[in-house]
Amino acid sequence: MTKRSFCCTAAVAAFAALASAQAPVPVAPPGGRGVTGPIAAPAGGLGGGRFKIYDPGAISRGLTAYTANCASCHGATARGTKTAPDLIRSSITMHDTDGVQIGDTVKGAAHEGAAKLSLSSEQFYDVAAYIHSRVIESSGRGQVHTADVLVGDAKAGEAFFNGAGRCKTCHSVTGDLKGIGAKYDAPALQERVVMPPRTAGKGMPANAIQATVTPATGPPVKGALLRVTDFDVIIRLADGTQKSWTRNHGVPKVETADSLQAHYDIMTTLKDSDMHNVTAYLAGVK
Ligand code: HEC
Ligand code: HEC
Repeated sequence: MTKRSFCCTAAVAAFAALASAQAPVPVAPPGGRGVTGPIAAPAGGLGGGRFKIYDPGAISRGLTAYTANCASCHGATARGTKTAPDLIRSSITMHDTDGVQIGDTVKGAAHEGAAKLSLSSEQFYDVAAYIHSRVIESSGRGQVHTADVLVGDAKAGEAFFNGAGRCKTCHSVTGDLKGIGAKYDAPALQERVVMPPRTAGKGMPANAIQATVTPATGPPVKGALLRVTDFDVIIRLADGTQKSWTRNHGVPKVETADSLQAHYDIMTTLKDSDMHNVTAYLAGVK
């Protein structure tokens, strides 16, 4: 790993100028759609941050904090450099909610080896708002209105659902997705096709990330992952109680399984035409 400490105020200023010249905050995309589109956070609660519309104030504070603290290595537009990875296509970003996972990564031992940074959780929230807004901007799927959504071909969407899209391997329009077209309006439905919310209600969400913790001695313990860093791991057991371990050099071992992984994969590969077609198809499943 390249070790480089970040210290130089002149460089910060230079990067700030560069970033604001090259990466304007996406508050007013061409086409006249404002930042206050109808897609809010998913009704169920914590989704990945990717499709959440953040407050423009947070995005613009985030750009400043990003530019000062991260751009030197991750690039002015977060697309990565020779020294540090792309944060737009990062799976950490994909799994991040409001800067929590990004913050944990930056505070983790591996990242501290590259850069010692002390940002508050509010600053990580802002930085994440900026990064997530860049993700939305890059995917061209930011503010979606009903008229833009239901432009697909329902028949082609049905074929995709049952065929190439492999949706049928997990879903059925007469089973779990019965009545889905009546349950959500078009933008909410499209959002769920791309990325269902992580939590669906109280208690242990069915689609939480599942962790198996294998302590140095004793049998493996399974539960819903609440937090894992280089230093500790916390899970929620089936009975609702929490259990935590301190970690040292990867012990205890933590393995995770994510029932929404298919949707993360869908999110990065789904073509806009397939997305529109499958949404039009499901909108008709009443
Ligand atoms: C001195 C260079 C440097 C700076 C400054 C820096 N990073 Fe990094 N970052 C790295 C390197 C190198 C890696 C890859 C190795 C690792 O994961 O530790 C990385 C990895 C990451 C990852 C994991 C990406 C992935 O997909 O695995 C995230 C997230 C991240 N950085 C966020 C940030 C944020 C946010 C900031 C600013 C608050 C920041 N970094 C500042 C060098 C830097
Ligand atoms: C490997 C399994 C898997 C595949 C493949 C998959 N999904 Fe999902 N999908 C899930 C899981 C898990 C959920 C979350 C279920 C929950 O929260 O109750 C979900 C949720 C959804 C929801 C939200 C349902 C609701 O009631 O809110 C929709 C819509 C959806 N998926 C559509 C699709 C479409 C369209 C495809 C194909 C392009 C697809 N899914 C492929 C596993 C999958």
